[in-house]
Parts: sequence; C-alpha cells; structure tokens
Amino acid sequence: MIIRSAEFIISAVGPKQYPEGNQPEIALAGRSNVGKSSLINKMINRKNLARTSSTPGKTQTLNFYHINESFYFVDLPGYGFAKVPKPVQAQWSKFIEQYLSKRDCLKAVLQLVDLRHPPSKEDIHMFEWLGHFGIPRIVVTTKADKISRGHWPKHQKVIRQALQLPKNVPMVLFSSETGQGKDELWGLLAPYLVG
Ligand code: GTP
Ligand code: MG
Repeated sequence: MIIRSAEFIISAVGPKQYPEGNQPEIALAGRSNVGKSSLINKMINRKNLARTSSTPGKTQTLNFYHINESFYFVDLPGYGFAKVPKPVQAQWSKFIEQYLSKRDCLKAVLQLVDLRHPPSKEDIHMFEWLGHFGIPRIVVTTKADKISRGHWPKHQKVIRQALQLPKNVPMVLFSSETGQGKDELWGLLAPYLVG
C-alpha cells in the first residue's frame, strides 16, 4: 500500500462525531498497551501520528485516522486496564460497543493480542462478541520481536486454541519494531478497502 496521506481527524466519544461520507473503516481492538497505536503508525509509515505510550490507557476515545482520503483506521480505547476507575471503564465499553454494533461502514476489526501471553478473558470475550455480530475479524499477534523466531509457532498455537480460532479467521504475526507482518496485513485488508 502506498501511503499518500494520513491525517488525524477526530477523537470521538459518540456517533454524532463520527466522520461522514461512508468510507470504509477498520477498527483496532485489544488490551491497553498491546500495540494498537503503534501498529497504525507502522502501517502508515509515521512515527507518532497515533499517540503511543508506555503508560497503558493512553487512547481513551475513538480516534479516527483518514488514510489516502479513502478509508479510516479507528483506534479504540484499550480494555483491561485495572487502574482506570470502573465507571470510566463502563463508559468506554459503552461507546466501544455502540460503535462496533451499529457502524455500517465498519468493514473489519483487527483484534490485537500480545504474542507473548495467552489471551485474557476480555480478549476472548471481545473476539466472540465480534463474531456474534458478524464483523469480519483478523487476529494480529503483536510484539513478535520480543520472542525468538523459533518460539513463534508455540505462542501462536496457545492463542489459536484459546480463541478457538475458526479456519476462516486469519492470524498475522506482527511487530511494530521490525515491520514484520505489515505487507501481509495490507494484503488481508485490501478487500475491505474498496468502495
Ligand atoms: P492504549 O492506547 O493504552 O490502549 O495502548 P496501545 O494498544 O495503543 O499501545 P501502544 O501502541 O501505545 O504501545 C504500548 C507500548 O508497547 C509502547 O511502549 C510501544 O512502544 C510498545 N510496543 C508496541 N508495539 C510493539 C512491538 O511490536 N514491539 C515492541 N518491542 N514494542 C512495542
Ligand atoms: Mg493507543
């Protein structure tokens, strides 16, 4: 994918703020700190367009990034960050759920899981929930650079089994450090980005 433009559009907390125009949207879901914002930056060759942080809970709104003036990446707030007060977490889940269940131009969700660890209950819940709503899913296992290549298959197997990954759901090994998986992921996204 040749990136001609990438622009931050809005931090939205409700449907009224979502961009108009009906262009395809690809959302990123996953635990806080799993690497959602880093993945967006890597995919579009930008250092810090999507703000990243070693402090979990950085992304607290739905952040829309307009790519090539033709589609959007939507960075969702990370779930599972215990230090965020319960009422705030509940508020997040509400607008994440509202977005995922009602947004017509949402074409697919990248579900990010840290390759190093088995999926959490929330990962599994999110994965099943997306399936229930019939939203196309792509599992992205992040931070592959933190594990030696020889151990990748073992870790992927744990994740595949925990999620009970259906055959038609692709899983991509990814690293925002090395760019591993970037081209493969663009290939998987391509069908969703037309019209
Ligand atoms: P929230 O916004 O809190 O939900 O987090 P996030 O999922 O957007 O994570 P973010 O992209 O901010 O990354 C969190 C931390 O992990 C940062 O310190 C990143 O530099 C680091 N990180 C992300 N992806 C990778 C990766 O592929 N490899 C390595 N080594 N570090 C990564
Ligand atoms: Mg983030």
